[in-house]
Amino acid sequence: MTTKTLDQKNDVISPLAPSAPGSDLTRRPRRLRRSESIRSLVRETVVRPEDLIYPLFAVPNSRPKIEIGSMPGVWQLRVREIVEEAARAFDAGIRAVLLFGIPEMKDAIGSTSWDPSGPVQAATEAIKRSVPQMTVITDVCLCEYTDHGHCGAIVDKAGTKEVDNDQTLELLVRQAISFANAGADFVAPSDMMDGRIGAIRRGLDARGMTDIGIMAYSAKYASGFYGPFREAAESAPQFGDRRSYQMDPANTREAMREIALDVEEGADIIMVKPALSYLDIIRGARENFELPVAAYNVSGEYSMVKAAAERGWIDGPRVMNEILTSIKRAGADLIITYHAMEFAAGSRQS
Ligand code: PBG
Repeated sequence: MTTKTLDQKNDVISPLAPSAPGSDLTRRPRRLRRSESIRSLVRETVVRPEDLIYPLFAVPNSRPKIEIGSMPGVWQLRVREIVEEAARAFDAGIRAVLLFGIPEMKDAIGSTSWDPSGPVQAATEAIKRSVPQMTVITDVCLCEYTDHGHCGAIVDKAGTKEVDNDQTLELLVRQAISFANAGADFVAPSDMMDGRIGAIRRGLDARGMTDIGIMAYSAKYASGFYGPFREAAESAPQFGDRRSYQMDPANTREAMREIALDVEEGADIIMVKPALSYLDIIRGARENFELPVAAYNVSGEYSMVKAAAERGWIDGPRVMNEILTSIKRAGADLIITYHAMEFAAGSRQS
Protein backbone atom coordinates (compact mmCIF):
# COMPACT_ATOMS: atom_id res chain seq x y z
CA MET A 1 0.00 0.00 0.00
CA THR A 2 1.31 3.40 -0.89
CA THR A 3 0.89 6.20 1.58
CA LYS A 4 0.11 9.50 0.03
CA THR A 5 1.22 12.85 1.27
CA LEU A 6 -0.01 16.39 1.02
CA ASP A 7 1.75 16.54 -2.32
CA GLN A 8 -1.23 14.65 -3.63
CA LYS A 9 -2.86 18.01 -4.01
CA ASN A 10 -0.48 18.46 -6.89
CA ASP A 11 -0.98 14.91 -8.07
CA VAL A 12 2.57 13.98 -7.02
CA ILE A 13 2.99 10.84 -4.96
CA SER A 14 6.02 10.70 -2.68
CA PRO A 15 6.82 7.66 -0.56
CA LEU A 16 7.00 8.17 3.22
CA ALA A 17 9.21 5.96 5.40
CA PRO A 18 12.60 7.53 4.58
CA SER A 19 14.31 4.83 6.65
CA ALA A 20 13.11 2.06 4.37
CA PRO A 21 15.76 0.10 2.42
CA GLY A 22 16.72 2.01 -0.61
CA SER A 23 16.64 5.37 1.14
CA ASP A 24 19.57 7.44 -0.03
CA LEU A 25 20.29 8.76 3.49
CA THR A 26 23.71 7.23 4.17
CA ARG A 27 25.00 9.81 6.63
CA ARG A 28 23.24 9.42 9.96
CA PRO A 29 24.87 11.32 12.87
CA ARG A 30 22.21 9.90 15.19
CA ARG A 31 24.02 6.52 15.16
CA LEU A 32 26.52 8.04 17.57
CA ARG A 33 23.78 9.12 19.96
CA ARG A 34 21.83 5.88 20.32
CA SER A 35 22.89 4.96 23.82
CA GLU A 36 24.69 6.51 26.76
CA SER A 37 27.56 4.06 26.19
CA ILE A 38 28.03 5.23 22.63
CA ARG A 39 27.62 8.88 23.61
CA SER A 40 30.29 8.51 26.27
CA LEU A 41 32.65 6.93 23.72
CA VAL A 42 32.49 9.92 21.42
CA ARG A 43 32.19 12.67 24.05
CA GLU A 44 34.68 15.45 23.23
CA THR A 45 34.70 17.44 26.46
CA VAL A 46 34.81 16.09 30.00
CA VAL A 47 35.03 18.24 33.12
CA ARG A 48 37.06 16.71 35.95
CA PRO A 49 37.09 17.84 39.61
CA GLU A 50 40.81 18.54 39.04
CA ASP A 51 39.86 21.22 36.50
CA LEU A 52 38.03 23.23 39.14
CA ILE A 53 39.24 25.92 41.52
CA TYR A 54 37.06 26.39 44.60
CA PRO A 55 36.66 29.98 45.93
CA LEU A 56 36.43 30.37 49.72
CA PHE A 57 35.75 33.47 51.85
CA ALA A 58 37.80 33.84 55.03
CA VAL A 59 36.58 36.00 57.93
CA PRO A 60 38.34 36.78 61.22
CA ASN A 61 37.74 34.25 63.99
CA SER A 62 35.81 36.92 65.92
CA ARG A 63 32.98 36.75 63.38
CA PRO A 64 30.29 34.10 62.96
CA LYS A 65 30.13 31.62 60.08
CA ILE A 66 27.33 32.86 57.80
CA GLU A 67 25.81 31.82 54.49
CA ILE A 68 25.74 34.49 51.75
CA GLY A 69 22.07 35.36 51.15
CA SER A 70 22.39 35.65 47.37
CA MET A 71 24.67 32.59 47.04
CA PRO A 72 23.05 29.55 48.66
CA GLY A 73 25.72 27.02 49.62
CA VAL A 74 28.49 29.66 49.85
CA TRP A 75 29.67 30.74 53.30
CA GLN A 76 31.95 33.20 55.02
CA LEU A 77 34.14 30.86 57.06
CA ARG A 78 36.59 31.15 59.96
CA VAL A 79 40.01 29.54 59.84
CA ARG A 80 38.99 26.22 61.36
CA GLU A 81 35.98 25.91 59.04
CA ILE A 82 37.99 26.88 55.97
CA VAL A 83 40.45 24.09 56.75
CA GLU A 84 37.60 21.59 57.13
CA GLU A 85 36.09 22.70 53.83
CA ALA A 86 39.47 22.50 52.08
CA ALA A 87 39.94 18.96 53.42
CA ARG A 88 36.48 17.94 52.20
CA ALA A 89 37.22 19.47 48.82
CA PHE A 90 40.52 17.61 48.53
CA ASP A 91 38.75 14.33 49.35
CA ALA A 92 36.27 15.06 46.58
CA GLY A 93 39.08 15.49 44.04
CA ILE A 94 39.48 19.28 44.02
CA ARG A 95 43.13 20.33 43.91
CA ALA A 96 43.00 24.13 44.29
CA VAL A 97 41.22 26.76 46.36
CA LEU A 98 41.07 30.52 45.74
CA LEU A 99 40.98 32.54 48.95
CA PHE A 100 39.31 35.90 49.55
CA GLY A 101 39.50 37.71 52.88
CA ILE A 102 37.23 40.02 54.83
CA PRO A 103 39.41 41.93 57.31
CA GLU A 104 38.65 43.16 60.81
CA MET A 105 39.31 46.77 59.74
CA LYS A 106 39.38 48.73 56.50
CA ASP A 107 41.27 51.93 55.63
CA ALA A 108 42.01 54.12 52.60
CA ILE A 109 44.90 51.98 51.30
CA GLY A 110 43.84 48.53 52.46
CA SER A 111 46.78 48.15 54.80
CA THR A 112 45.24 45.22 56.70
CA SER A 113 45.72 43.14 53.54
CA TRP A 114 49.41 42.67 54.35
CA ASP A 115 48.85 41.98 58.05
CA PRO A 116 50.59 38.62 58.60
CA SER A 117 47.73 37.55 60.89
CA GLY A 118 44.96 38.59 58.46
CA PRO A 119 42.22 36.09 57.55
CA VAL A 120 43.78 35.06 54.20
CA GLN A 121 47.25 34.65 55.68
CA ALA A 122 45.86 32.63 58.62
CA ALA A 123 43.71 30.45 56.35
CA THR A 124 46.63 29.87 53.94
CA GLU A 125 48.96 28.77 56.73
CA ALA A 126 46.32 26.51 58.26
CA ILE A 127 45.38 24.84 54.95
CA LYS A 128 49.03 24.27 54.02
CA ARG A 129 49.57 22.69 57.45
CA SER A 130 46.51 20.37 57.37
CA VAL A 131 46.02 19.69 53.65
CA PRO A 132 49.54 20.32 52.27
CA GLN A 133 48.81 19.01 48.79
CA MET A 134 45.99 21.49 48.25
CA THR A 135 47.14 24.28 45.94
CA VAL A 136 46.37 27.58 47.63
CA ILE A 137 45.76 30.58 45.37
CA THR A 138 45.08 33.95 46.98
CA ASP A 139 43.16 36.74 45.27
CA VAL A 140 45.25 39.92 45.29
CA CYS A 141 43.12 43.07 45.32
CA LEU A 142 42.40 45.98 47.62
CA CYS A 143 38.61 46.26 47.32
CA GLU A 144 37.87 43.98 50.29
CA TYR A 145 40.33 45.98 52.40
CA THR A 146 39.63 49.61 51.49
CA ASP A 147 36.96 51.69 53.23
CA HIS A 148 35.91 53.11 49.84
CA GLY A 149 35.63 49.64 48.24
CA HIS A 150 37.78 50.44 45.19
CA CYS A 151 40.57 48.18 43.99
CA GLY A 152 43.33 50.76 44.49
CA ALA A 153 44.46 53.95 46.19
CA ILE A 154 42.27 57.01 45.55
CA VAL A 155 43.67 60.38 44.52
CA ASP A 156 41.91 63.65 43.91
CA LYS A 157 42.49 64.87 40.36
CA ALA A 158 40.98 68.31 39.82
CA GLY A 159 38.06 67.57 42.13
CA THR A 160 37.43 64.06 40.77
CA LYS A 161 38.33 60.97 42.74
CA GLU A 162 40.35 58.50 40.75
CA VAL A 163 42.09 55.18 41.38
CA ASP A 164 45.81 55.92 41.03
CA ASN A 165 47.54 53.18 39.05
CA ASP A 166 51.17 53.48 40.07
CA GLN A 167 50.58 54.09 43.79
CA THR A 168 48.36 51.02 43.81
CA LEU A 169 51.07 48.77 42.34
CA GLU A 170 53.22 49.15 45.42
CA LEU A 171 50.30 48.18 47.68
CA LEU A 172 49.47 45.12 45.59
CA VAL A 173 53.10 43.96 45.70
CA ARG A 174 53.09 44.20 49.50
CA GLN A 175 49.90 42.18 49.68
CA ALA A 176 51.18 39.51 47.26
CA ILE A 177 54.42 39.12 49.20
CA SER A 178 52.50 38.78 52.45
CA PHE A 179 50.31 35.98 50.98
CA ALA A 180 53.39 34.26 49.56
CA ASN A 181 55.07 34.46 52.97
CA ALA A 182 52.02 32.74 54.46
CA GLY A 183 52.52 29.84 52.03
CA ALA A 184 50.36 30.64 48.98
CA ASP A 185 51.37 28.67 45.87
CA PHE A 186 49.91 31.24 43.47
CA VAL A 187 48.80 34.84 43.79
CA ALA A 188 45.95 36.02 41.58
CA PRO A 189 45.81 39.79 40.99
CA SER A 190 42.22 40.82 40.17
CA ASP A 191 42.58 44.61 40.32
CA MET A 192 43.19 45.38 36.61
CA MET A 193 45.87 48.03 37.24
CA ASP A 194 48.38 48.45 34.40
CA GLY A 195 51.71 46.75 35.02
CA ARG A 196 50.74 44.82 38.13
CA ILE A 197 51.86 41.42 36.89
CA GLY A 198 55.38 42.71 36.21
CA ALA A 199 55.50 44.60 39.50
CA ILE A 200 54.41 41.54 41.51
CA ARG A 201 56.77 39.22 39.60
CA ARG A 202 59.73 41.52 40.33
CA GLY A 203 58.65 41.92 43.95
CA LEU A 204 58.48 38.16 44.50
CA ASP A 205 61.71 37.44 42.62
CA ALA A 206 63.63 40.12 44.55
CA ARG A 207 62.76 38.19 47.72
CA GLY A 208 63.78 34.85 46.27
CA MET A 209 60.15 33.74 45.86
CA THR A 210 60.72 32.55 42.32
CA ASP A 211 58.52 29.45 42.80
CA ILE A 212 55.35 31.41 43.54
CA GLY A 213 53.14 31.51 40.45
CA ILE A 214 50.88 34.27 39.16
CA MET A 215 47.38 33.53 37.92
CA ALA A 216 46.50 36.82 36.22
CA TYR A 217 42.93 38.07 35.94
CA SER A 218 43.99 39.27 32.49
CA ALA A 219 40.71 40.04 30.75
CA LYS A 220 38.42 41.07 33.57
CA TYR A 221 35.31 42.90 32.45
CA ALA A 222 33.29 45.52 34.35
CA SER A 223 30.33 43.23 34.90
CA GLY A 224 26.93 43.22 36.54
CA PHE A 225 27.52 39.53 37.25
CA TYR A 226 29.74 40.38 40.27
CA GLY A 227 26.75 41.63 42.31
CA PRO A 228 26.45 38.69 44.74
CA PHE A 229 30.25 38.52 45.25
CA ARG A 230 30.22 42.03 46.63
CA GLU A 231 27.84 40.85 49.33
CA ALA A 232 30.09 37.84 50.02
CA ALA A 233 33.31 39.89 50.11
CA GLU A 234 31.75 43.09 51.49
CA SER A 235 33.53 44.99 48.74
CA ALA A 236 30.97 47.17 46.93
CA PRO A 237 32.47 50.51 45.83
CA GLN A 238 31.16 53.34 48.02
CA PHE A 239 31.13 55.80 45.10
CA GLY A 240 31.32 55.46 41.32
CA ASP A 241 32.02 52.14 39.66
CA ARG A 242 34.95 50.08 38.36
CA ARG A 243 34.72 51.02 34.69
CA SER A 244 37.95 53.05 34.70
CA TYR A 245 39.97 49.91 35.43
CA GLN A 246 37.86 46.87 34.48
CA MET A 247 37.19 46.26 30.79
CA ASP A 248 34.26 47.32 28.62
CA PRO A 249 32.08 44.24 27.89
CA ALA A 250 31.94 45.30 24.24
CA ASN A 251 35.63 44.70 23.53
CA THR A 252 37.46 41.67 22.14
CA ARG A 253 40.75 43.00 20.73
CA GLU A 254 41.41 44.90 23.94
CA ALA A 255 41.16 41.59 25.83
CA MET A 256 43.87 40.11 23.62
CA ARG A 257 46.11 43.14 24.28
CA GLU A 258 45.55 42.82 28.03
CA ILE A 259 46.42 39.12 27.93
CA ALA A 260 49.52 39.74 25.79
CA LEU A 261 50.79 42.29 28.34
CA ASP A 262 50.27 39.88 31.24
CA VAL A 263 52.12 37.14 29.35
CA GLU A 264 55.03 39.50 28.66
CA GLU A 265 55.09 40.62 32.29
CA GLY A 266 55.38 37.05 33.54
CA ALA A 267 51.92 35.55 34.15
CA ASP A 268 51.88 31.75 34.54
CA ILE A 269 48.13 31.32 34.02
CA ILE A 270 45.86 33.78 32.21
CA MET A 271 42.20 34.31 33.06
CA VAL A 272 39.01 35.50 31.43
CA LYS A 273 36.24 36.75 33.71
CA PRO A 274 33.23 36.40 33.77
CA ALA A 275 32.86 33.17 31.80
CA LEU A 276 29.40 32.70 30.33
CA SER A 277 28.88 35.96 28.46
CA TYR A 278 32.54 35.80 27.40
CA LEU A 279 32.93 32.31 25.90
CA ASP A 280 34.21 33.90 22.69
CA ILE A 281 36.95 35.64 24.67
CA ILE A 282 37.91 32.33 26.30
CA ARG A 283 38.16 30.80 22.83
CA GLY A 284 40.28 33.74 21.66
CA ALA A 285 42.61 33.34 24.64
CA ARG A 286 42.96 29.60 23.93
CA GLU A 287 43.73 30.17 20.23
CA ASN A 288 46.15 33.06 20.65
CA PHE A 289 48.19 32.07 23.70
CA GLU A 290 50.07 28.99 24.88
CA LEU A 291 49.62 29.43 28.64
CA PRO A 292 46.92 27.61 30.61
CA VAL A 293 43.63 29.51 30.40
CA ALA A 294 41.40 29.88 33.45
CA ALA A 295 37.81 31.12 33.31
CA TYR A 296 35.90 32.53 36.28
CA ASN A 297 32.30 31.27 36.49
CA VAL A 298 31.39 34.27 38.67
CA SER A 299 28.94 34.84 41.49
CA GLY A 300 26.03 36.16 39.41
CA GLU A 301 26.28 33.20 37.06
CA TYR A 302 26.05 30.90 40.09
CA SER A 303 23.21 32.80 41.75
CA MET A 304 21.06 32.75 38.61
CA VAL A 305 21.27 28.96 38.47
CA LYS A 306 20.52 28.60 42.18
CA ALA A 307 17.58 31.04 42.08
CA ALA A 308 15.95 29.44 39.05
CA ALA A 309 16.51 25.92 40.41
CA GLU A 310 15.01 26.93 43.77
CA ARG A 311 11.84 27.96 41.94
CA GLY A 312 11.76 24.71 40.04
CA TRP A 313 12.21 26.56 36.74
CA ILE A 314 15.34 24.66 35.73
CA ASP A 315 17.05 21.43 36.75
CA GLY A 316 19.96 22.88 38.78
CA PRO A 317 22.52 20.02 38.60
CA ARG A 318 21.85 19.48 34.91
CA VAL A 319 22.31 23.17 34.11
CA MET A 320 25.48 23.28 36.26
CA ASN A 321 26.97 20.42 34.24
CA GLU A 322 26.02 22.07 30.97
CA ILE A 323 27.54 25.39 32.02
CA LEU A 324 30.84 23.91 33.23
CA THR A 325 31.09 21.79 30.07
CA SER A 326 30.46 24.82 27.86
CA ILE A 327 33.24 26.81 29.57
CA LYS A 328 35.69 23.96 29.07
CA ARG A 329 34.51 23.38 25.49
CA ALA A 330 35.15 27.07 24.75
CA GLY A 331 38.80 26.51 25.66
CA ALA A 332 39.29 26.91 29.42
CA ASP A 333 41.71 24.49 31.09
CA LEU A 334 40.66 25.60 34.57
CA ILE A 335 37.34 26.84 35.88
CA ILE A 336 36.96 28.86 39.06
CA THR A 337 33.47 28.03 40.27
CA TYR A 338 31.27 28.13 43.38
CA HIS A 339 29.74 24.88 42.06
CA ALA A 340 33.07 23.07 42.62
CA MET A 341 32.05 21.01 45.67
CA GLU A 342 28.64 20.15 44.29
CA PHE A 343 30.15 19.09 40.97
CA ALA A 344 32.99 17.09 42.53
CA ALA A 345 30.69 15.32 44.99
CA GLY A 346 28.36 14.38 42.12
CA SER A 347 31.08 13.18 39.78
CA ARG A 348 32.52 10.88 42.46
CA GLN A 349 29.19 9.09 42.93
CA SER A 350 28.70 8.35 39.25
C1 PBG B 1 37.98 41.63 43.53
C2 PBG B 1 37.23 40.56 42.86
C3 PBG B 1 35.90 40.56 42.40
C4 PBG B 1 35.63 39.28 41.97
C5 PBG B 1 36.79 38.53 42.13
N1 PBG B 1 37.77 39.35 42.66
C6 PBG B 1 34.85 41.62 42.42
C7 PBG B 1 34.96 42.83 41.65
O1 PBG B 1 35.86 43.03 40.83
O2 PBG B 1 34.11 43.68 41.89
C8 PBG B 1 34.31 38.78 41.44
C9 PBG B 1 34.04 37.35 41.62
C10 PBG B 1 32.63 36.93 41.48
O3 PBG B 1 31.71 37.70 41.14
O4 PBG B 1 32.39 35.75 41.73
N2 PBG B 1 38.36 42.69 42.75
